[in-house]
Amino acid sequence: MLTKEQLLETIRHLHDPEFQLSLTDLQLVRDMVIKEGRVSATVLLSNEDPAYKDQVQEQVIAAFAQAGAAEVHLRFRPMSEFERNEAARKQAEHTAAPAEAEPVRDILAPESGIHFIAIASGKGGVGKSTVTVNLAVALARLGKKVGLIDADIYGFSVPDMMGIEGRPELVQNRIIPVERYGVKVISMGFFVEENTPVIWRGPMLGKMLRNFFQEVNWGELDYVLLDLPPGTGDVALDVHQMIPQSKEIIVTTPHATAAFVAARAGAMAKHTNHDIIGVVENMSYYQCSACGQKDYVFGRGGGAKLAEELHTELLTQIPLGAPDNHVAEADYSPSVYKENTETGQLYLELARKLIGKVE
Ligand SMILES: Nc1ncnc2c1ncn2[C@@H]1O[C@H](COP(=O)(O)OP(=O)(O)O)[C@@H](O)[C@H]1O
Ligand SMILES: [Mg+2]
Repeated sequence: MLTKEQLLETIRHLHDPEFQLSLTDLQLVRDMVIKEGRVSATVLLSNEDPAYKDQVQEQVIAAFAQAGAAEVHLRFRPMSEFERNEAARKQAEHTAAPAEAEPVRDILAPESGIHFIAIASGKGGVGKSTVTVNLAVALARLGKKVGLIDADIYGFSVPDMMGIEGRPELVQNRIIPVERYGVKVISMGFFVEENTPVIWRGPMLGKMLRNFFQEVNWGELDYVLLDLPPGTGDVALDVHQMIPQSKEIIVTTPHATAAFVAARAGAMAKHTNHDIIGVVENMSYYQCSACGQKDYVFGRGGGAKLAEELHTELLTQIPLGAPDNHVAEADYSPSVYKENTETGQLYLELARKLIGKVE
């Protein structure tokens, strides 16, 4: 005969996304009645995402059916304020670190002294991620302790661009970022199966982003660079609000339209009181390797015009040209320019400029 205890055991592996404990430990499955193999119960939900509800429903029914339930009927309701407090208390008890564990540093606390630099653009494809990755590597080459958060949750690309193949480890329930070229990296890409799409809705995205700050053991840091999603959507707004002390760099191409669209990202930074450090113009020109002549294939002046419009500085102009890296190299990455290349040097100069401006 089926018992309540047996059934609750079968869902011990299902974890609530907010409180990070099993539904069983959190007692989120209640009012269970078992009658001649028919099971009914109430499930408490920590969020209102219908996709989450569907997922829980499917998984609980499957687990109960496998345990031998002939029929399963579930009711759902949101957690009350009181129930949320209870769950938070259980979570705190559960995650209370052992005495010798490192104290959790809140990197968002203003007294952490960390410089946050968000890299924004008006649209995708202008090289925002490329600039973020190379600026982070350049800062590390200058001896800074650097974290990089790939906040482009739908369009994550940083792990691939840096040639990262590993995944973060969990130590004492905290995520350890993956280190590459001296930069500590966290990306949504680490937490999804083999390049599958992220299909979460708004509130889940904000929560994920918060986890990147609070569930990650960053250790000592001087800088955190954030690769924002392109445009002025929810996640960009979340970042602005979560990190009021963040400063911002806007990336554009020299094309007039790109600069026009980038101005909106700049306006958003201003609207949320973030200082704009300056503009990076990427894909500024193509330099002929034989004759040295510069061809301005995407037009000219977009970066300068944008800087003027935002009352800030054009920090650098990066030419066209992918890094000449080879898959066979041990530290291969598709997008990181070597230090001794012309573009590698431009990024070092940019990093020095940044340090001069914020420290
Ligand atoms: N200066 C450059 N020269 C050549 N290719 C570039 C340059 N900057 C970026 N790219 C390439 O352009 C594409 C878009 O860059 P990416 O950094 O992913 O843009 P975003 O993050 O703005 O969408 C990528 O394939 C990248 O490798
Ligand atoms: Mg990108």
